[in-house]
Amino acid sequence: MEASRWAPDTTELREGSAGLSARPRRLRRLANLRRLVRETRLVIDNLIYPLFVVHDGPKEEIPSMPGIHRWPVELLPAEAEEVAGLDIPAVILFGLPAAKDAQGSEAYAADGVVQRAVRAIKAAVPELVVMTDVCLCEYTDHGHCGIVRDGQVLNDETLDVLGRVAVSHAVAGADVVAPSAMMDGQVGAIRAALDEAGFPQVAILAYAAKYASAFYGPFRDAADSAPAFGDRRGYQMDPPNAREALREVALDIQEGADIVMVKPALAYLDVIRRVRDAFDHPLAAYNVSGEYSMVKAAAQRGWIDERAAALEMLTAIRRAGPDMILTYFAKDAARWLREGD
Ligand code: PBG
Repeated sequence: MEASRWAPDTTELREGSAGLSARPRRLRRLANLRRLVRETRLVIDNLIYPLFVVHDGPKEEIPSMPGIHRWPVELLPAEAEEVAGLDIPAVILFGLPAAKDAQGSEAYAADGVVQRAVRAIKAAVPELVVMTDVCLCEYTDHGHCGIVRDGQVLNDETLDVLGRVAVSHAVAGADVVAPSAMMDGQVGAIRAALDEAGFPQVAILAYAAKYASAFYGPFRDAADSAPAFGDRRGYQMDPPNAREALREVALDIQEGADIVMVKPALAYLDVIRRVRDAFDHPLAAYNVSGEYSMVKAAAQRGWIDERAAALEMLTAIRRAGPDMILTYFAKDAARWLREGD
């Protein structure tokens, strides 16, 4: 609210404490008063839980992401039941393939790791929304998000492959596909591929404004997806830019995105707010791996209160205006929100 809407009479304020009529502290006095005037609510309905999936082997904790694991497909039904049991509406899957190659061919294989994981989860917990990350970086031997020739990540040649990946996820039963490669035209290409293959009902969550961020570091350990040469600055957005994010979002909406996303969240709350104000589309924010691991690491050293910091962070993200948050804290947050203050 801008100051002019309540415009205090400053002469009255200058009269001293006995004459103060505006006392914001009155509504902070009791926990239940604070509840009544709370402007932003973080609820379990807002949460999406990311899961890293592998073909087989044991469930393994990711060293740089305490509390987050790589899940073999056979253990996924039980984990999906736990997530659904906490009333979390959705998961998003990231796959670690059996083998990587130049084209990232396991990304669209019918029996690829994500395709198997989707089938296992949907068979066990059909009501849980299953989203899939559509990208090549976990599947290519060079670790880039698209097809590479002569050291360049090719845009248009990558679009066909992303369309194939999305369709293979839809065939396996994914409800929502989430293109994150930051290729121009990827949303339109995927929409066309899905419609042509008979999946008009499968939704697209577009990583619309995805920045070339240092906060993805722990994820790249988890998904073994760091680029073997160069970096992603030739396709992901430049952190200083915010107006450009609005253009990216507008393009993805034109191309058929059902939900648009800003990523990362914490260092980009201004971008989330600007997108919220400029568009009425459903909006997601990705509370990324580095944001999670910073809180975890500080909490492990006793430097920060994990629960309070995580809930404050997630609430602050909500205050910026997204409808939903992808967060590695989803299960913890669901438990904390159930317990109450
Ligand atoms: C794939 C992808 C990445 C993340 C989500 N999808 C990594 C990257 O772009 O390097 C990062 C998520 C996180 O850090 O939690 N392109």
